[in-house]
Amino acid sequence: MDFNRTVLVTGGCGFIGSHLVCSLVTRNPHWRIINLDVLDYCCSPRSLESIEDRTNYTFIRGDVCNSRLLNHIFSTENIDVIFHLAAKTHVESSFESPSSFQRVNIDGTRVLLGAAHQARHRPQRFIYVSTDEVYGAGLDQVFDESSPVRPSNPYSATKAAAEYLVKSYWDKYKFPIIITRSNNIYGPRQYTEKVIPRFLNLLQMNKKCTIQGTLPKSRHFLFVDDAISAFLLLLEKGTVGEIYNVGTSCEIPIMQLARELIKMVKNVQDSEVNDWLEFVPDRPRVDLCYPIKCEKLQQLGWRAEVSWVEGIRQTVKWYHDNPDFWTEAGEDQGQVRSKFQKTNE
Ligand SMILES: NC(=O)c1ccc[n+]([C@@H]2O[C@H](COP(=O)([O-])OP(=O)(O)OC[C@H]3O[C@@H](n4cnc5c(N)ncnc54)[C@H](O)[C@@H]3O)[C@@H](O)[C@H]2O)c1
Repeated sequence: MDFNRTVLVTGGCGFIGSHLVCSLVTRNPHWRIINLDVLDYCCSPRSLESIEDRTNYTFIRGDVCNSRLLNHIFSTENIDVIFHLAAKTHVESSFESPSSFQRVNIDGTRVLLGAAHQARHRPQRFIYVSTDEVYGAGLDQVFDESSPVRPSNPYSATKAAAEYLVKSYWDKYKFPIIITRSNNIYGPRQYTEKVIPRFLNLLQMNKKCTIQGTLPKSRHFLFVDDAISAFLLLLEKGTVGEIYNVGTSCEIPIMQLARELIKMVKNVQDSEVNDWLEFVPDRPRVDLCYPIKCEKLQQLGWRAEVSWVEGIRQTVKWYHDNPDFWTEAGEDQGQVRSKFQKTNE
């Protein structure tokens, strides 16, 4: 079959990446979608089982820091579009092992950019999926794309550094990059270390939701389908060399989040909610919130379509219907690993 576009997604087995890959593969049968992922602990090959047999889908298990592999991919495939999502993403872990975050998030981006830029077939777009966390905390300030970048944890520092690398390829070579900075994204299939699945997982095990520290933290939550629609719109209509905030006005205090989830999962009255809360010491230098303006993206016609009520309903239902998804993920990864090793023996 002839394909009229080849898209490389890095990190396509992760939470957002798997939704992006599924969407690209099913909506665009004439596009070939290549997913490059190392299969880190936080992802499951099962996230892609609905599309893994499609003829327009190819999975490559590999490390984005491996320049030989990346040069091989770009010399054997005519890659038109790159969505770069592969990253270490857990903020708390970034305090414990900052060097692994630097390796994947900065070096991986450098290697990918180098291979993409040197490719014989020039890519049309390189979309780097970054985060609102690069702005640092905003208490009485709402950030737009020209606001200063002040990352305050090792994770966001590596994302900001990678952004500068990506931007330098536009400034120096007019390599057609676009950078997105999105809010916290949530939805089905997110690994249980992030706040919403962490609370759901605790409640499913009849444990209490742990609230870190006493300061009133909140997050702007964007449903994963809305994030994907923003990325796909930016692919077609975004201006190269530009940065786009991707977010929502839906700000949810973490305490309110825990209370809502307790009521939904445990089906209890207001008076019993506190029985499912436990207060634990704060993690170091946690930011209180990251408010962003998204007018630039909205001018292209994007709106978040999924309300908080609907998005959290779908998410809670998915975790309810798939209680073993993450416990079984390790076994599935082992099987993919042995299949991969066999073909390479
Ligand atoms: N989840 C959010 O709320 C959010 C918000 C804004 C931006 N982002 C960004 O979106 C991207 C995806 O986030 P996510 O939540 O899906 O994360 P995730 O942790 O679920 O997925 C990351 C994926 O990257 C892969 N990966 C890690 N190291 C790799 C390597 N060396 N080579 C190849 N693949 C590797 C992992 O196996 C995993 O599949 C990240 O770049 C993240 O910074 C996430």
